[in-house]
Amino acid sequence: MLEIKNLRVKLADEDKLILNGVSLEVPKGQVHAIMGPNGSGKSTLAYVLAGREGYEVIDGEVLWNGEDLLAMEPDERAAKGVFLAFQYPMEIPGVATLTFLRTAFNAVRRKRGQKELTTPEFLKRVREEATSLGIADEILKRPVNVGFSGGEKKRMEILQMAVLEPSLCVLDETDSGLDIDAVRVVSAGVTKLRSKDRAMLVITHYQRLLNYIVPDKVHVMAGGTIRKTGGKELALELEKTGYAEFKSKALESA
Ligand SMILES: Nc1ncnc2c1ncn2[C@@H]1O[C@H](COP(=O)(O)OP(=O)(O)O)[C@@H](O)[C@H]1O
Ligand SMILES: [Mg+2]
Repeated sequence: MLEIKNLRVKLADEDKLILNGVSLEVPKGQVHAIMGPNGSGKSTLAYVLAGREGYEVIDGEVLWNGEDLLAMEPDERAAKGVFLAFQYPMEIPGVATLTFLRTAFNAVRRKRGQKELTTPEFLKRVREEATSLGIADEILKRPVNVGFSGGEKKRMEILQMAVLEPSLCVLDETDSGLDIDAVRVVSAGVTKLRSKDRAMLVITHYQRLLNYIVPDKVHVMAGGTIRKTGGKELALELEKTGYAEFKSKALESA
């Protein structure tokens, strides 16, 4: 279970508070969505969970299976099963995608005390996942994300996730920049990974993605806090009413 308790986060090198008391719990086996207007702190929450530099936690805690996630280095978090699919996936010139996947896979396996796969075993595994995500073999030979379309980058994030078998998946705006067919493919990839041992946090600005990845709960984030929590129907309500209600209150309290 992921437990986020009263998390307050500021920028490390600026006096700017971004998360102002975020609390939520995601039990294993569940998929929760975080929705909210732009600038509400959704990506910041994802970054803090993954351990990205540049943010300072000033209050609160994050427990993953009862362990203090914030005390761990990013690679330890990955070994504990944490995976973040980025809103803006990074390009890594000079590193073939397949090499990158294999390095990440083996590093995580070693840290988890699992045995590494042989090259043929690994290739078989990646090709199976890639095929089901509609990723061509040729793409796997190209440098990571370099010259990839928006859709290809997002598919690659899901491929990484499928290969690394994380137990806590955080997907940040996986749908942004995707056409509807790509949303379907990516959602099917995510849905395939739903399991009783896995907790997933799906961040999205639009309701569209949640037609395909049906969440157990929806949280609305605005002004750096969770303002409302509900079932999957909350996403549909928001699609009709928009975020106006939350925006005005966020401004009043700012
Ligand atoms: N590194 C940064 N430098 C300056 N401002 C930042 C930085 N990271 C986040 N912010 C600000 O924090 C707020 C929340 O951003 P973000 O977490 O990206 O929101 P969301 O993902 O919900 O759109 C925004 O006002 C954004 O401009
Ligand atoms: Mg964002």
